[in-house]
Amino acid sequence: MSKNARKSRFSPAARMQQVNPFRVMTVLERAKALEAQGRKIVHLEVGEPDFVTASPILEAGRSALAQGYTAYTPAAGLPQLRERIAQHYLDTQGIVVVPERIFVTPGASGALSLVAQMLINPGDGVLMSDPGYPCNRNYVRLAGGTAQLVPVSAQTDYQLSAAQLDEFSDEHTQGVWAASPNNPTGTVLSREALQAISHWCERRDAHFLVDEIYHGLDYVDGLPSALQICDDALVINSFSKYFGMTGWRLGWLVVPQALVAPANILAQNLFIAASTIAQHAALRAFDQDTSVILEQRRAAFRCRRDFLTAALMELGFTIALPTQGAFYIYAGIEAFSVNSERFCQILLEEFGVAITPGTDFGDFENQRYVRFAFTTGMAELEIAVQRLRAAVASGRLSQ
Ligand SMILES: Cc1ncc(COP(=O)(O)O)c(C=O)c1O
Repeated sequence: MSKNARKSRFSPAARMQQVNPFRVMTVLERAKALEAQGRKIVHLEVGEPDFVTASPILEAGRSALAQGYTAYTPAAGLPQLRERIAQHYLDTQGIVVVPERIFVTPGASGALSLVAQMLINPGDGVLMSDPGYPCNRNYVRLAGGTAQLVPVSAQTDYQLSAAQLDEFSDEHTQGVWAASPNNPTGTVLSREALQAISHWCERRDAHFLVDEIYHGLDYVDGLPSALQICDDALVINSFSKYFGMTGWRLGWLVVPQALVAPANILAQNLFIAASTIAQHAALRAFDQDTSVILEQRRAAFRCRRDFLTAALMELGFTIALPTQGAFYIYAGIEAFSVNSERFCQILLEEFGVAITPGTDFGDFENQRYVRFAFTTGMAELEIAVQRLRAAVASGRLSQ
């Protein structure tokens, strides 16, 4: 090796080359830079609730601090929180999940990373929808696996179907990762769809992971958890979205009984335990007074969804399916542009509206779609719509 070709002391590991940056963060950074110059920007790019964490949870967090709860908890989480989560499954889904199978993690992110490290061997393939949550590909790649992207369209509710799993799997496939409701499409997996995927996984001896981080923030009746259908699915959830606790960094993972021991070993090694203060605060997340606040917020999200969906359709965006959950609208821009990145750039730079290009969520038809996050109040949404109307009328969006 010549001297010049030697890698520097600080060269990132080769696997880093496969990890792409989050484009939404680039949009956010640019939006903040424009704001620093005095521009008013409407933020429809950010995937987190705009509400401050509900007051009973805040109060519980303060009280945990006052009582000096600052030491580690067990790796799998506070026993009383795991019991509370188990109770939540019984109350909302009518299913018994033993607390032993529940692991409290640093966000859903911690849970996804734990599953990837626990189940994926180098060379393994994991099927996932394209479009889908961008980090999933990277968790799989960082574990040495291959993200097997399955292009999904409105025909299958932008979700995986058993027929596509047949088509896109190969001898390396070891798992299927889905999300219901999904980011960026806001669509859910019906009971039948979950059943079909679960049977497919059983037949193929593949693991089945369902990310249910947007459960609770759904606008359909009786949305089933995968655990209702398939007791040995791996289910991810979080306090970030419905419970409005993004910055507390707290999520959870339900594993099949057979994986309790390895999950515990990995939790100890990867993060020792999730935040103790956050766990004490989350004990109040399921109480009646908190639920009243969270349900009001869900109603607010539903109003925003209805308003923005109607406005976007009137402006000429294509919305094939209504948002069934989460706070995203996945909209086709074919009436305006063939380049979603350019579209988003013009919208931000010239009209002060920040949204996320489809290129953040996969490869399939990614120039045709953009994601609107209705994580801002009605007054801001009204300004956004006025600006979008001006943008459409200007003809600039096709540049
Ligand atoms: C589908 C999905 N899964 C997981 C996450 C990570 O969430 P957190 O780590 O905050 O719980 C997100 C965040 O936006 C998401 O959209």
